[in-house]
Amino acid sequence: CGIIGFTGRLQVADILIGGLERLEYRGYDSAGIAVRQNDATKIIKTTGKVAELRKKASETDDIEGTCGIGHTRWATHGGVTDINAHPHVAGKVTLIHNGIIENYKELSAALKDKGYTAVSETDTEVAAMLIDSLYDGDPFKALKEADQQLAGAYGFCIMFEDRPGEIYCMRNASPLVAVSTDDGAFIASDMVALLPYSKDYFVVPEEHIVVMTPDGIKLYTMDQEEVAPKMLHVDWDTTAAQKGGYDFFMQKEIFEQPEALKNTVMPRLHNGRADFSADNISDDIFKDINRVVVTACGTAMHAGLVGRHLIESMLRIPVTVELSSEFRYMNPILDDHTLVIVVTQSGETADSLAALRLANERGAKTISIVNVKGSSIARESDYVLYTHAGPEIAVASTKAFSVQCAGMYLIALKLAEINNMMTAEEMAAYCDAFQAAIDTVAPVLEMDEQIKGIAEKIKDTFSAFYLGRSLDYAIACEGSLKLKEISYVNSEAYSAGELKHGTISLVTEGVPIIAIATQENVLPKLMANVEEVKARGAHVIMVTDKDMSSYEGIYDDLIQVPNVDDRFGTFGVTVALQLLAYHVTVFRGYDVDQPRNLAKSVTVE
Ligand code: G6P
Repeated sequence: CGIIGFTGRLQVADILIGGLERLEYRGYDSAGIAVRQNDATKIIKTTGKVAELRKKASETDDIEGTCGIGHTRWATHGGVTDINAHPHVAGKVTLIHNGIIENYKELSAALKDKGYTAVSETDTEVAAMLIDSLYDGDPFKALKEADQQLAGAYGFCIMFEDRPGEIYCMRNASPLVAVSTDDGAFIASDMVALLPYSKDYFVVPEEHIVVMTPDGIKLYTMDQEEVAPKMLHVDWDTTAAQKGGYDFFMQKEIFEQPEALKNTVMPRLHNGRADFSADNISDDIFKDINRVVVTACGTAMHAGLVGRHLIESMLRIPVTVELSSEFRYMNPILDDHTLVIVVTQSGETADSLAALRLANERGAKTISIVNVKGSSIARESDYVLYTHAGPEIAVASTKAFSVQCAGMYLIALKLAEINNMMTAEEMAAYCDAFQAAIDTVAPVLEMDEQIKGIAEKIKDTFSAFYLGRSLDYAIACEGSLKLKEISYVNSEAYSAGELKHGTISLVTEGVPIIAIATQENVLPKLMANVEEVKARGAHVIMVTDKDMSSYEGIYDDLIQVPNVDDRFGTFGVTVALQLLAYHVTVFRGYDVDQPRNLAKSVTVE
């Protein structure tokens, strides 16, 4: 969910709705605002996207006010209805919430006995009722007690009826950032919402209370001792969160990849080695390692699969890749010889954060690959390698994936150096090949029209399969996810050799098979599998950097990307697959940036 709040000297409704539009990628089932007026609080909320809220607000008389809170929802508890949309009100409390209150059923039963009746089906309303029941004019006391009673994750912004112009905020797990300017005080679930106002901000620490007034922001411990916030600076410029002439954010972000990769990789390749000195990453973390565990969710997990292939095949260090939501409950075997790499764009994914905390607890060495500065995972890992993709707005991750893979390639090189696994010449050759592979991304983007033509041929399909072996299987997983999540084509990635053990029964006349071939050593085997699907009538699209002249006739369409060193096949092919998914989705007429039911940053478990 997305959260924004403001109190100060400006009209608040526009600030809230504008902020929610920038936060919409965090959830877009419903949205609402609460504007504090003289003696009352005006609430406008609706199902649908923020555009619906903007419309409803424009049809509402008198929404003047300079203090308010706003929310865009990704439903967890309770269906998508106007009543379940935030803000929620209970007695003197008006509140918005990001997270899940796990013990809301127990709390609700106790509150019922105190005379509270919920109108919605949400866990959030229970939190509002609880805080109201504890409030006797002292917000600190109420929030401290509420914090003790609530189980789960939350970021709250709260207005109390008898405290006009003030907003109180508190968080546990769910992120909140705060900004203070001459115009007033701002709070949001991430900095993208606040970029038009400031680039200097602080992350609200857990177990603290933020008090916002028109004169600024103060940060307190739970015992009401004021503490100085730790200020951070973001170097994203305001245009980074705008479409800038592109039809969709996803399209813009695909085209930003040459820059994102350059910014992430070039400052860290020096004289034929990986240089992390500017990142303050100590070499020690790469020493005495006998195992690597990568943990992540969604697309970020696929970057882990790419890393696994690279590190195992090149460095002979065993690597496992675990979904964070599984890892945290599987009682993993970890010790101080295990390097745990957490990969995450947002740095706030609840499962990945929990996985990191477990790894820290068990004494593993932890490093994260993160895009959002100052995020929870960045702060809690031993070291962080920031990717420099700039803000990613489209729900489907593109540029963040490419730079996450780049992060894995950089870490692999560092591991090799510290553990004397490669000679100086080998490392220099690796750096050259890495750079050359990144340079192929721009030419792949120039193939946009050709890829669009191929997308048009498969746009009406019900299902599709992505095939690859070894590294290409990892690339296939991400290519397939991209297509499935935005176009709703029922798409699966298969290790090419596995298809014949069951799934080939789904291959019928005209089913698109996207075959990925960047690995010379398995090319003949892959093409044998391609022959098998072709013989069953599949429409084969080859995506490759290899010379395919001896395989003509086996495939129907060819996306030929520039040739690179086999270790670095990821970059060019991935971009081609992103363009394919993008165009299929545009042809099918869906909202590319906001696919149904998804959210970009999932801060609940
Ligand atoms: C959500 C997004 C995915 C993303 C995943 C992990 O499910 O829709 O695109 O890959 O979260 O997000 P993270 O911020 O941890 O990379």
